[in-house]
Amino acid sequence: MEVIIRETKADAVSLAAAIIARALRARPNLVLGLATGRTMEAVYELLVRLYEDDGLDFSLARTFNLDEYVGLPPEDPGSYRFYMNKHLFHRVNIDLRNAHLPNGMADDLNAECANYERLIKDCNGIDLQLLGIGRTGHIGFNEPLSAMRSRTRTKALAPETIEQNCPFFKGEPPRRAITMGVGTILECRRCLLLATGAEKADVIAKAVEGPVTAMISASALQLHPKCTVIVDEAAASRLEHGHYYRWVFENEPEWQEYH
Ligand code: GLP
Repeated sequence: MEVIIRETKADAVSLAAAIIARALRARPNLVLGLATGRTMEAVYELLVRLYEDDGLDFSLARTFNLDEYVGLPPEDPGSYRFYMNKHLFHRVNIDLRNAHLPNGMADDLNAECANYERLIKDCNGIDLQLLGIGRTGHIGFNEPLSAMRSRTRTKALAPETIEQNCPFFKGEPPRRAITMGVGTILECRRCLLLATGAEKADVIAKAVEGPVTAMISASALQLHPKCTVIVDEAAASRLEHGHYYRWVFENEPEWQEYH
C-alpha cells in the first residue's frame, strides 16, 4: 500500500483524476472500476473537464461500479445508476452498453450477482478500481464482517451507513445493496482509494495502519499488491507515519510526474 498525502481536498481529487486519465490514455479500452459518494463527485467533474478540454476519450472504456441499492430503478435519483448518469456517463462519450452497474431491480438477485462477476471476468478483470471509504470502513458496501474472500452479493447495510445515506432519500433509505465482494475488489489489478475531510481521519488510520480485520473492510487493501491511498491533510491527521509517506511520494521516481 502507498499513502499519498496532499494538502487540500482539491489536490487529492486532482491527483486521483490524473491517475485515472493517464491509465485511460495508456489503454483506451481500460476496464475501470467506479465508485459513488460525495467524494467522487469532484473526481468525475475533473474527468468531464478533461474530456471536454483535452479530448480524454471514454469511447472504448468499460466500467464496473462497485455497488447498487436493491429495489431502486435507474430513474430513481437515489440510485447509483442515476448518480453515474448525472455525474459522468451522460457527460462523456462512454458507450452506455459498456457502463455496468449491478441491477438492484433483478427478480433473482443471486443470479444477478453471479452474472456481474461473469461480466467482469469476460472483460479479463478490472484494471483500475476507484474506491471511497464509508464511516464503517466499508469499500463498496462491504459492511463490517464482510469476508475477505467475499464475491458480489447482496449485503444488509449497517445502521450507521443507513443514517449517513438519509439526506439522499425523501422516504426510507434502502436497507440492502448489491456490492462487489472484498475478494472481487482484491482481484483488481490496481486499487485507488480516495478519502478527504476530517470525518474520514479515524477510519483511514484504522484501514491503513490498523490490523487487517473483517470489521474494517478497507483494511483488506493492505493485502493488495498495488494499492494507492490518496488523502488530504484532514483525512491524514490520525496517521502515525505521515512523514514517511510524504518522503516516499517526494522521492520515488514513479510519482515525479505527478508533482
Ligand atoms: C457509499 C458508497 C461507497 C463510498 C461511500 C463514501 O457508501 N457505497 O462506495 O465509499 O459512500 O461516501 P462519501 O464519499 O460521500 O463519504
